[in-house]
Amino acid sequence: MKATIVLPLAAAVLACSASLQDRAGIWFTGQAVNTTSGLVSGHGATNQSGVSEYLGIPFAQPPIGDLRFAAPVEFYGTAPLNGTSFGPSCPVKASNTTTPSVNIIIAANITEAGVEMAGIFATPNNYNEDCLYLNVWTKPQTGEAKKAVLVWIYGGGFTSGSSAIPGNTGANIAELEDVVVVSLNYRLSILGFPGNPAGPNNLALLDQRLAIEWVRDNIENFGGDPSRVTLFGQSAGSVSVDLYSYAWVKDPIASGFIAESGTVFSWGLPHTATDSAGAWFKVTATLGCGNASADSTSVLSCMRSKSSAAILAALPAASGIASILGYFGPTIDDTVVFSNYSARTPAKLPILVGSNNYESGYFRTEFALANATLPDLFWDEYTLQDFTCPAGIRANASVTANIPTWRYRYFGDFPNTRISSEAGAWHGAEMPIIFDTMPSEPASTPEEISISAYMRGAWATFAKDPVNGLATYGWPSYDVSKDTLIRLAYDNITGTNAVNPAMYDADCVYVNVSSTQEIGAPLQTSGASKTNATSTAGTSGSGSALGSSPTTVQSNGGGGRFEGQIGLVLAAVVMTWFL
Ligand SMILES: *[C@@H]1O[C@H](CO)[C@@H](O)[C@H](O)[C@H]1NC(C)=O
Ligand SMILES: *[C@@H]1O[C@H](CO)[C@@H](O)[C@H](O)[C@H]1NC(C)=O
Ligand SMILES: *[C@@H]1O[C@H](CO)[C@@H](O)[C@H](O)[C@H]1NC(C)=O
Ligand SMILES: *[C@@H]1O[C@H](CO)[C@@H](O)[C@H](O)[C@H]1NC(C)=O
Ligand SMILES: *[C@@H]1O[C@H](CO)[C@@H](O)[C@H](O)[C@H]1NC(C)=O
Ligand SMILES: *[C@@H]1O[C@H](CO)[C@@H](O)[C@H](O)[C@H]1NC(C)=O
Ligand SMILES: *[C@@H]1O[C@H](CO)[C@@H](O)[C@H](O)[C@H]1NC(C)=O
Ligand SMILES: *[C@@H]1O[C@H](CO)[C@@H](O)[C@H](O)[C@H]1NC(C)=O
Ligand SMILES: *[C@@H]1O[C@H](CO)[C@@H](O)[C@H](O)[C@H]1NC(C)=O
Ligand SMILES: *[C@@H]1O[C@H](CO)[C@@H](O)[C@H](O)[C@H]1NC(C)=O
Ligand SMILES: *[C@@H]1O[C@H](CO)[C@@H](O)[C@H](O)[C@H]1NC(C)=O
Ligand SMILES: *[C@@H]1O[C@H](CO)[C@@H](O)[C@H](O)[C@H]1NC(C)=O
Repeated sequence: MKATIVLPLAAAVLACSASLQDRAGIWFTGQAVNTTSGLVSGHGATNQSGVSEYLGIPFAQPPIGDLRFAAPVEFYGTAPLNGTSFGPSCPVKASNTTTPSVNIIIAANITEAGVEMAGIFATPNNYNEDCLYLNVWTKPQTGEAKKAVLVWIYGGGFTSGSSAIPGNTGANIAELEDVVVVSLNYRLSILGFPGNPAGPNNLALLDQRLAIEWVRDNIENFGGDPSRVTLFGQSAGSVSVDLYSYAWVKDPIASGFIAESGTVFSWGLPHTATDSAGAWFKVTATLGCGNASADSTSVLSCMRSKSSAAILAALPAASGIASILGYFGPTIDDTVVFSNYSARTPAKLPILVGSNNYESGYFRTEFALANATLPDLFWDEYTLQDFTCPAGIRANASVTANIPTWRYRYFGDFPNTRISSEAGAWHGAEMPIIFDTMPSEPASTPEEISISAYMRGAWATFAKDPVNGLATYGWPSYDVSKDTLIRLAYDNITGTNAVNPAMYDADCVYVNVSSTQEIGAPLQTSGASKTNATSTAGTSGSGSALGSSPTTVQSNGGGGRFEGQIGLVLAAVVMTWFL
């Protein structure tokens, strides 16, 4: 301990003057690193003591006071920073989920791993509006002098999530793959996507951009290579990565994109400016700050005078698409978020895009915990419309633009990643495999360990050389006419096991991805007549089987029902079991 107080400063000075080759030799764990935010000292990561972990580095000024509902402003500092703990997570609306009864939990077939996973993927209870922090994991002692960088953007339906989720630590990837890992926070719900027509919108996406600019400016001092930065994200984080690929075409900073279970074509997004403004004024009126007829400057200053908790508590109860995402999310501004993605071309950078075989497994498990049941056919359609087809359409867009493209479908269903008996390869199931954060009990199976190393290796190989890496890894680039849909973990096979994408995409001709499949609403179809059983789910199954059950689930106030939420639901489960 004593040594670590004195030595970081000396090492920082040495590190700045030494060449990169020399630097590797003199690096020691947690040494202070000079950044535009200040001199940050870290420590050895838990369980990966050779990895230097720098947590809670500010990249933007606190988005409070006059900076609430404003674009993020760069943080610049020269003071020492203590990088040994995560910064606060961005505020989320308090959950109103009632604890499921023991009978319900048993009936939902929740597994022991499901309970453990709820803890591993839960956001620690440290929220503050001053939340624009990022984290860095690096191991410069070994490997490449300048390492490829993977930047993680969390999901959570744009209404929950955090870079402090233990299951998304970058420590294991940094240790195992010779890359630098960064994760960042961004504002959520109305604080990230206010919808105010008189001010900037999509602030959360600007937060992400500012953090990525910070990576460009600072990552070299951590042993990273600013010319090889790959963004990866899951769910709303994956949508964020993809929105970024269209928003920053001229100056992407990044050199590759990995989109796990979300694209610009997902979930009927983005919101129109009109809808978002309507949601904004609903909240302003609820808080007594005036409505669309009031002076916009006084509405804004009134909204800035309220506590973030009061604002989040005033969010309207959600229905329709908002029951999944909340009313506040990516909104068309024709600057960062566009109305016409199918007519646009993304940044000409390689992309790895994919989804899981049974994304619905996550949602049906949540529904089961709320004592709500929907027909299997409904859930099959949900996976198809909201995940499979958006991934396929996005892959097509890159292929059409002659961009190197790879596409996967993940099938893993292992004893320690299975959240319930019915969950299959659920929405999020690949995260513990990529991050190597599976529960320790039950133990990982040999196939799982092999597949985990293989997938993580693919992600890192892509980051190291986005154009050629995966070809060298043996992955066929995407071509709808060939067997190029890579089936990860299918039949527990380590390898590509690729098939023609039509095997899973054929029914995409029947779905309209612009019209999100709401959980609990009658299925939206493109109007074409369906030729087989799936039409049953579309026309009658889902609509009539619902009754009032989904309302139970929606009673959590319209917060994202994505992974953050299952954390909350299952955390309640844990409490029940231990009471
Ligand atoms: C630290 O970084 C800042 C900003 O990049 C720079 O102005 C300053 O000179 C650096 N300090 C040292 C000791 O290198
Ligand atoms: C460290 O490993 C233990 C055992 O696998 C695990 O329970 C714990 O969550 C890990 N801690 C972190 C911070 O990864
Ligand atoms: C950094 O923070 C940790 C925990 O918050 C604390 O234990 C440690 O003493 C701090 N280090 C310095 C140099 O302030
Ligand atoms: C739980 O498992 C039983 C037995 O396999 C099954 O009948 C039931 O439908 C499952 N529950 C749910 C919510 O899927
Ligand atoms: C806005 O508020 C004013 C004053 O409270 C009210 O008269 C008006 O009907 C409101 N307008 C809308 C569109 O709600
Ligand atoms: C997309 O919409 C924007 C603004 O609405 C317009 O400027 C642009 O030309 C459109 N792009 C295409 C390819 O249609
Ligand atoms: C679960 O739902 C069923 C059918 O709607 C109902 O009969 C039962 O009472 C519910 N159980 C609980 C604990 O709410
Ligand atoms: C991708 O494009 C091919 C033809 O170019 C088309 O047949 C296929 O349906 C498209 N995939 C999706 C999911 O739209
Ligand atoms: C894969 O292996 C796990 C155990 O490691 C097993 O539970 C599962 O059924 C296997 N899946 C397939 C498709 O063989
Ligand atoms: C798809 O859904 C959107 C939104 O509901 C709608 O505007 C559009 O007309 C639909 N397209 C087709 C082909 O039905
Ligand atoms: C019919 O449904 C099955 C299962 O969802 C699907 O695999 C198959 O492609 C569909 N066939 C047609 C003609 O749509
Ligand atoms: C929680 O949900 C219940 C049932 O929908 C509702 O009556 C109650 O007002 C909600 N409480 C809060 C604090 O939102």
